[in-house]
Amino acid sequence: MESHDIVIVGSGGAGLRAAVGALQTNPGLDILVVTKTMPTRSATCMAEGGINGVLDFPGQEDSLDAHSFDTIKGSDYLGDQDAIEFFVQKASEAVRETDFWGTPYSREGDGRVACRLMGGHKYARTNFSADKTGHILLHSNFDYALKCGVRFRINSQLLDVAVTDGVCRGVVVRDTNTGAVTPLRARAVVLATGGYTRMFWARTSTPYIATGDGVGVALRAGVAFKDPEMVQFHPTGVANGGVLITEAARGEGGYLVNKNGERFMARYAPDRMELAPRDITARAIETEIIEGRGYGEGLGAHVLLDLRHLGRERILERLPQIRHVGLLFENLDLVERPIPVRPTAHYSMGGIDVVDHEHMKTTVPGLFAAGECSCVSIHGANRLGGNSLADAMVTGKQAGIGAACSIPTAAFGGDAALETLAASWREHFRETTSRKGDGATAPELREKLAAVLWEGMGIFRTEEKLAGALDAVVGLQKEFETAVVGNANPVCNTAYAHFLEVGNLLSLARCSLVAAKARHESRGAHTREDYPARDDAAFLKHSLVTVSGGDYRLDYRPVTVTRHQPQERKY
Ligand code: SIN
Repeated sequence: MESHDIVIVGSGGAGLRAAVGALQTNPGLDILVVTKTMPTRSATCMAEGGINGVLDFPGQEDSLDAHSFDTIKGSDYLGDQDAIEFFVQKASEAVRETDFWGTPYSREGDGRVACRLMGGHKYARTNFSADKTGHILLHSNFDYALKCGVRFRINSQLLDVAVTDGVCRGVVVRDTNTGAVTPLRARAVVLATGGYTRMFWARTSTPYIATGDGVGVALRAGVAFKDPEMVQFHPTGVANGGVLITEAARGEGGYLVNKNGERFMARYAPDRMELAPRDITARAIETEIIEGRGYGEGLGAHVLLDLRHLGRERILERLPQIRHVGLLFENLDLVERPIPVRPTAHYSMGGIDVVDHEHMKTTVPGLFAAGECSCVSIHGANRLGGNSLADAMVTGKQAGIGAACSIPTAAFGGDAALETLAASWREHFRETTSRKGDGATAPELREKLAAVLWEGMGIFRTEEKLAGALDAVVGLQKEFETAVVGNANPVCNTAYAHFLEVGNLLSLARCSLVAAKARHESRGAHTREDYPARDDAAFLKHSLVTVSGGDYRLDYRPVTVTRHQPQERKY
């Protein structure tokens, strides 16, 4: 059986940084990165605005404490404060480290890395490379990983992790080109598979691959899904489909206007205006639309983002990518015209329950998680712009270190379980692809799921809407049991690949709804119209959903508060 010391699943920023972190800890390790796509096409490249990290240049007011506090307040106090304090310190190191690797950051006139202000931050600490920071960082991480000798197995879809005697023994993957199902024995596994916002299929800024595979697999291995109800809606996706218009557009001075020509953010966040945190700005835009001050109707309703006053030169220098996005998706040049925007599902604050922020361990020995698929919890109920790339770099590196440090005491094992699991997946392919009849297809189910979630678990939630959505998702899961793939050829069978993704998405959506329905308060991105206040007495705690034999169980764990008692959150 193919064996590796460490198997890392996912090749975005977190997975690549984990691989390098592990090799920096122990250069002799045999490490394999398994990935569904080409590393350079991972979702990290969609994070545009920048990477947060305080750089200690002389004369600046910013500090690690200030970054910590902004992140804690931004999280609506659901973030664990010990994890956040550790994170901001390491984020600062991550910017210096990636600069040292040769990442082509934009520069100020004196040569320092350029930074901008993003929503919810008191100081400008979002270091950037124009509006392509994720893309640039992904490439420098990929380059560095290749230089360190990391090996890749691309076009490999994660099917399961094998756990015996409570210990993770490796993974089972499927080659999407050949259809071969292969068990990979490992002494440590790092899941870095990204987020799950493709559950909002028709309106998300994330790529088609963001289907929460790692979270689904971890759930099947008995690990809890933490804070699944905390899904971030980025305020500005293009009206036509939801592709990201970076927050950097507002960081550079762009503003939001409704159909009356008002800069309506003055009503919602008079001090921060367009640079309020994302939960507040997204709610403000939706409120304008609901109350009739937006343009258009249905899913295409929108407000405008006006950048014209920045001028062509600054837009071309600082925001070239979103200009391109405007041309592609709205057929307009935002140098000359305001661009229609509306919130779009963007980021998963929740994820695989990680219980140790220094080594990114899960509750299953030998299984680690990093990046958007993990929840440690840094972002709590609302992530600040620019903290996702920092999260990928920090949690990725720490997971790599954690996995490498675990190797001396981790033995190979579980061969029989790995073989059995692989055999059951081969049988799954045979059984599902031979189904006949008029059952639903995966594309039909994911479209229905997206509609149910946008309506029932969108920006504004109520008991009634959540209960209806939960019933609907349980119904979709039932339909999924007899759904048809329609293609029995193992070679390049994208229908089967999507079928597996939809199975995971349905399960993650159900977890999110179970937790959202039970959280009788409004906190961060979780806005309950029927419970409009935050309730610290009852809900200063993480939701933990586990799945066993078809049962979805909800537990809680208290939030770690160190120095900052929860306060009213005003901007
Ligand atoms: C953005 O540039 O607005 C997205 C990046 C992030 O989510 O941090």
